Amino acid sequence: MCLKDNQLHPINLAAPLQIGNVSVRNRVVLAPMSGVTDMPFRQLAWRHGAGLVVTEMVASRELVNNTAESWSRLRAAGFRPHMVQLAGREAHWMALAAKIAADSGADIIDINMGCPAKKVIGGYSGSALMRDPDHALSLIEATVKAVDIPVTLKMRLGWDDNSINAPEIAKRAEDAGVKLITIHGRTRMQFYEGKADWDAIRAVRNAISVPLIANGDVDTQADAQEILRRSGADAVMIGRGCQGRPWHAGVLAGAAAPSPEKIPDIVVEHYEMMLDFYGEAMAIRHARKHLGWYLERFAPLLPVSQKAAIMTSHTRAEVVSRLRDALAAGVEISRSREAA
Ligand SMILES: Cc1cc2nc3c(=O)[nH]c(=O)nc-3n(C[C@H](O)[C@H](O)[C@H](O)COP(=O)(O)O)c2cc1C
Repeated sequence: MCLKDNQLHPINLAAPLQIGNVSVRNRVVLAPMSGVTDMPFRQLAWRHGAGLVVTEMVASRELVNNTAESWSRLRAAGFRPHMVQLAGREAHWMALAAKIAADSGADIIDINMGCPAKKVIGGYSGSALMRDPDHALSLIEATVKAVDIPVTLKMRLGWDDNSINAPEIAKRAEDAGVKLITIHGRTRMQFYEGKADWDAIRAVRNAISVPLIANGDVDTQADAQEILRRSGADAVMIGRGCQGRPWHAGVLAGAAAPSPEKIPDIVVEHYEMMLDFYGEAMAIRHARKHLGWYLERFAPLLPVSQKAAIMTSHTRAEVVSRLRDALAAGVEISRSREAA
């Protein structure tokens, strides 16, 4: 069941949500983020209590063409539901890719119609599809027809302020069999500028009956309640707020945040999971941004030279030992500040 105007507040974020025939354990979803929500990140987010996690977007044509990167993005992280996001501009490739994903164990297929990146919209996929609703619908219909698992749709409010068409597309997608809609409360032309418009999401709520997830600029539990109150959505999705704290979606859903003493262990574990997943050479590149986010959050006073030493260390042992020292010092500083 989805919640409409008669929604009661505050919403219980720990309550389960149903997407078609798939049960989701709570109402805080980790956003798909290319280059961030890879398998190690999703595993950590899940272990710390996120209700649902989504793969990085997988390009449909690349998947059909069997590229190593698309298979790496598609891989299940060892728990269910396994939600795979597909991007593409042709119904034909989307249908074939959806079938491959479903056959390889996906429980839910999400269609990406929100990505503003030029590389993606240059191929008229991502948010560019919102400029041509009829074409978008042909792609959605083909995807729904290709699989017997739930298909969901993630999009923005529209292309720009003069073409807010998410409510129309959402309704047509629901009629075509889509089981859940996610809205990032910005237009494509906003990229990530300004503030997400949580009130504007309500027009989508009023247009559809399937569950709705609201997304954009959620950071705290108060934000999560506020976006749900203003949009009338059933669940919340959080992306950048989880960078440097993969446990945060779970915390918004009611799980305990890790104690400051535990944080260095989690960071080192994440680093080692990336090494295992990518292999040492590639992992160092992937790990840098995550380590940067952790250090920004938990060791903000770390001298630049020490940060650089961590980022440029080339052996696992060296990175781990410098990282532990930096984070332990960061924890110590914040503890003594709290005590003062
Ligand atoms: C680095 C990065 C990568 C992203 N990659 C994807 C993606 O692969 N698929 C997608 O639908 N959205 C993608 N997004 C958009 C997010 O899912 C989300 O809609 C957006 O960040 C707004 O939520 P937030 O304010 O909580 O971050 C990406 C965002 C970021 C910052």
